[in-house]
This record gives sequence, C-alpha cells and structure tokens, in this order.
Amino acid sequence: MGKLPDYNKNILCIGAGYVGGPTMAVLADKCPDYRVTVVDINAEKIAAWNSDELPIYEPGLTDVVKRTRGRNLFFSTDIAGGIKSCDIIFVSVNTPTKTYGEGAGMAADLQFWEKTAREILTYAESDKIVIEKSTLPVRTAQAMERILHSRDNGLSFEVLSNPEFLAEGSAIRDLENPDRVLIGSRDTERARHARDILVDIYARWVPRERIITLGIWSSELSKLASNAFLAQRISSINAISALCEKTEADVTEVARAIGLDSRIGPKFLNASIGFGGSCFKKDILNLVYIYRMYGLEECADYWEAVVKINEYQKRRFLLNMLKAMFNTLAGKRICLFGFAFKAHTSDIRESPAITIARGLVAERAQVVITDPQALKNAKWELAEEISRNEVTLVYDPYEAANGCDAIALMTEWPLYRELDYREIYQSMRKPAFIFDGRNLLDHRELKEIGFQVYPLGKPPLTTDGGFKP
Ligand code: UDX
Ligand code: ADP
Repeated sequence: MGKLPDYNKNILCIGAGYVGGPTMAVLADKCPDYRVTVVDINAEKIAAWNSDELPIYEPGLTDVVKRTRGRNLFFSTDIAGGIKSCDIIFVSVNTPTKTYGEGAGMAADLQFWEKTAREILTYAESDKIVIEKSTLPVRTAQAMERILHSRDNGLSFEVLSNPEFLAEGSAIRDLENPDRVLIGSRDTERARHARDILVDIYARWVPRERIITLGIWSSELSKLASNAFLAQRISSINAISALCEKTEADVTEVARAIGLDSRIGPKFLNASIGFGGSCFKKDILNLVYIYRMYGLEECADYWEAVVKINEYQKRRFLLNMLKAMFNTLAGKRICLFGFAFKAHTSDIRESPAITIARGLVAERAQVVITDPQALKNAKWELAEEISRNEVTLVYDPYEAANGCDAIALMTEWPLYRELDYREIYQSMRKPAFIFDGRNLLDHRELKEIGFQVYPLGKPPLTTDGGFKP
C-alpha cells in the first residue's frame, strides 16, 4: 500500500459565479478551520465580491459573506497563487452551450474548463484533489485526468465529481440544508481517500445519510438527469395547460389532483410561460448531444421534446396575447411585470420574459418592463431595443403600468400579488388586459375590478365575452 497524500486545509474555488460564490461562502461558514479562496479571471467580479454590493442577489448571501469574508473566505484574481497554495480545488467555471463548430447550439463548450485544467497542471507544486462542480458532460472527468497526468511531474491529482444542485433564489437554504450531496469518485485507494476528505467537509453540516458516494460517471450523469427530469415536469404540466385552455379545464386543479398521488408528488407542477435559467435548456441540449454521439436517436428525440414544448409555450402565450387584443399589438403599450427567470433572483439568463419582450417588439408594441431586482441585467440584455425606444425600464410597478393597454405577468414576485389593482386599472387604457403567465394573481377580483383576465391554462375571465384560446 503506497503512502496516501497529505492534503493541506486550503480550499480554492476557480470561478466566482452563481455557483462558486455562494457555495464557498457557505463552506467557509461551516468549516472555520479551512481557508477558502475564490478566484476568477473577471477582476470586476472579484472587486464586487470584495465590496458591499455583491455581484449576485441571493437572499441570505450578504450575511454569510459578512461573517466569513476576511476571516477564512477570500476573493482574489491570483489564480496561479491560489493553485500553488491550495490542495483542494473546486472548479466551477461556466460551461455554456457551444456557439460555434461541431455541436454548436447543443454541446457544452468546454474551453473554460480545459483552460482551468491546464492552469492547475502548470502551477501545481503539490498533490491535489480536483473537484468538478460545474455541470459537465458525462465522462468529462476522464479528460480532466488525462490533462492533469499529461506531464510527468511526480504529482498526483485525484478528480472527484461533486455536482451542485442549488436553485437560485434559495441557494443559501439549499446549500445549508441539501436534499443530498453527491460525491463521485473512482474506486482506487487514493480516490477513496480524496473522497473521504470531501465527505468529512460536508459532514460538518449535512447529515451523513444525505451524503451519497457513488461512481464518478454516475455522479456526472446524475446532475444532467436531475435537471432533465425537473424540466420535463414543467414541460409536462405546460403541455397539459395548453389542453386546459381548449377544454375549459383548470390547470391548477389538474396539477393539484395529480400531485396528490404520492408517486408523483406536488412540487414543480406550476404551469408557466416556460422554464428559464442557466441550467435546464443547456443541460438537456447537452444530454441530447451526448445521446446522438452514442447513436441513441430515439432517446435524444424524447428529451429534445422537453425543450421544444418550452419554446412552444412561450410562442403560445404571445399568440394568445395577440388574439385577445384584437389581432394587433402595433402601437399598444404593454407592461411586463417581472423580467427575472424566477422570483428572488436578479438573474435573467434564458428568462422567458426575454422572448416575450422581443416577440412584442416584433409586433411593434411598446414594451415597459418592471422588476424589483433584474432591471440592471435587463438594461444590458435589451440595450438595442432600449436605444431604439422600443423598450423602457421602470422600477415602480404603478408607474410602469400607467397608460398601458395590458399587463403580462412574467415573474412570480410576491409583491405583484400585493399591489392595488384598482389604482392600476384606473391608470390604464381600456379595455385593460392582464395576462398572468404564472397564475399568481386573484383572477376573480381582477375581473370584478374590470380587467379582461387571461390566466394560463384556465378559462379567461372577460367582461365582454372576448377571445377564448
Ligand atoms: C435548477 C435546478 O432546480 C437546480 O437543482 C440546479 O442546480 C440548477 O437548475 P434554477 O434554474 O436556479 O435551478 O431554478 P428552478 O427553481 O429549478 O427553476 C427553473 C425554471 O423553471 C424557472 O424559470 C422557474 O420559474 C420554472 N418553473 C419551476 C416553472 O415554470 N414551474 C415550476 O413548477 C417550477
Ligand atoms: P455558474 O452559474 O455555473 O456559476 P457563472 O457564469 O455565473 O456560471 O460563473 C462562472 C465564472 O467562471 C465566471 O465568473 C467566469 O469569469 C469564471 N471563469 C471562466 N473561466 C475561468 C478561468 N479559466 N479561470 C478563472 N475563472 C474563470
């Protein structure tokens, strides 16, 4: 039996994004005896992590960072220095969908990830545990191992897979109290030793039975499969919502009825304008690409349909708006309540509201967008539309809706339930429409106020017998 490496208690995380930042903040909080450094090539982002205005909005994050920053949590741009001094390295760089060459629009772009692997190899001076946190195609760890072992430098690198399951908006809660933590490793003595070190780190705050050790390929694939299953549930209920609109069934009642079957369960059954976020679409397309690579065309088509239904749901919502508003939106003022891809985040990546806003602009509507957290990102995303005066951003929802023909609710921010819709109705052009893309509002009350109400997957409540989908 060879001597097992003795790793120091310095942790490095490469990539200070939505995953790396919050994950390391919680880890530092729970493990005061570890020194945790988070590095990134983006100096602006690191400066923000070191300031009072963190680069991402996440409930509870500021408190954790305040407790740990400068104590045992550090943010830096010194990647080489970090690699030299830390023996436990998490990699959480972005792996977006490839936009060029073979697999464009489907496969994961691994350039940032490979660059990181090479940097680790260049600067390492001691044995390392390298932990994949980013979502990666199954069997990526093998490529990581090959790069790390491509030089005969006498060092050992153990690669583990520890995928992240945090959801934005509840990241801190998910990290502090995860359903499960997966730690995938090879089945060698050194790999098991590295795995046990990571198990011990998590065991500081996660009950042992929720820390699952498994094969490294299973771990990588479980992350892709989990996201595919979650997204599939949303596309399933959204497909049911389309049929509800035709048959006067109510999708909320149907979701409740099916969710009471304990085998199905009640969560993740809210019909919506479609799922957004940085993971679902990217991970499913990546999965589809991998299936096709192995010649498993039928399975690829099956999962691809989840993304197709999602695109269809957004188109359908837009079409319903057009039909309800007398088949023309040209010159109409339409207010989007919410722009984030879900509530409690400022993130707009793949937000269905982007598609809806652009679709409305294409119909020559005037779009006014309000959101309590995401306007900074909206300004960047829609810079061209804003410069052409097709889109305006307004922080106050009352002011945003003023003079509009319609409100379309995009994000389920609880504050939109609390607004005074009588006051809003008074300030709008008549007939005043509400399209509730999240079924968040009190539709009966809105109808009583005078609105033409179009919920999602339910019969419309109109005062004048208008368009029925
Ligand atoms: C997701 C996974 O949940 C998480 O485990 C993984 O690590 C990353 O991807 P996230 O994208 O942050 O997390 O948000 P999630 O809560 O899963 O929502 C994704 C999208 O689905 C949002 O646009 C949300 O509004 C939508 N959604 C969710 C629905 O439309 N209906 C639902 O019932 C649930
Ligand atoms: P995620 O949602 O997966 O966390 P983000 O895009 O929010 O994705 O964060 C990934 C981070 O990784 C970005 O801040 C990016 O600048 C950083 N990054 C990408 N490549 C490297 C690299 N080679 N070294 C250090 N950081 C990197």
